[in-house]
Amino acid sequence: MPAADAEKRLAARAAAGLVESGMTVGLGTGSTVAFLVEALAERRPEARFVATSPRTAAAAREAGLTVVPFRGIDRLDLAVDGADQVAPSGWLLKGGGGAHTREKVVAAAADRFVVIVSSDKLVDALRPPVPLELLAFGVDATLRALGGSAPLRAGVPPPPDRGLIADYWGDLEDPEAVALRLSAVPGVVEHGLFPPTLLSEVLVARGTSVERLLGPE
Ligand code: 5RP
Repeated sequence: MPAADAEKRLAARAAAGLVESGMTVGLGTGSTVAFLVEALAERRPEARFVATSPRTAAAAREAGLTVVPFRGIDRLDLAVDGADQVAPSGWLLKGGGGAHTREKVVAAAADRFVVIVSSDKLVDALRPPVPLELLAFGVDATLRALGGSAPLRAGVPPPPDRGLIADYWGDLEDPEAVALRLSAVPGVVEHGLFPPTLLSEVLVARGTSVERLLGPE
């Protein structure tokens, strides 16, 4: 197994230990979350799970976990997800798998949002592109409003809410300013910049150990 995958698996196993019976837990999307599902399948806590993508839902069901729709549930005890980049400021870049809209909704609903990553995901500063989900309606006008710097992504499975995925290649020196600018463009459903205020902690695996980095209180 490649070193990064071994680290993802380790971080995922540490996060699986946070899930207790009776909890409602959000599951992110991606290869790190696949390791989480694997670890949960072994532990089998009496918990119910909300999945952020059809992929995760199918894997979780196959693993014997109880997956429920995110309806009639207004908060989650815990959400666990991977990330593409984690900056020292606590800003995250997510959406490599195009699932960031649902992932952000789930993270925001959780009392505790835990991010699990291999050590290569820690960066000094976030680098573009920023994944975007765009409304299909009027997408060319939305792309124009984004200044032509956000090509549509080819070859990704369409998001379950019928949006389109694009990647924004603008400067990312000030993630907060970029997040505000992207959110202000009509037709941008959601962007992949997650603010530090969403984050409870990051479990980062390095070699054979897992380090816990705390987000803001
Ligand atoms: C999907 C995501 C993933 O969490 C992110 O892309 C990390 O993926 P992986 O765990 O495969 O490295 O944001 O939208």
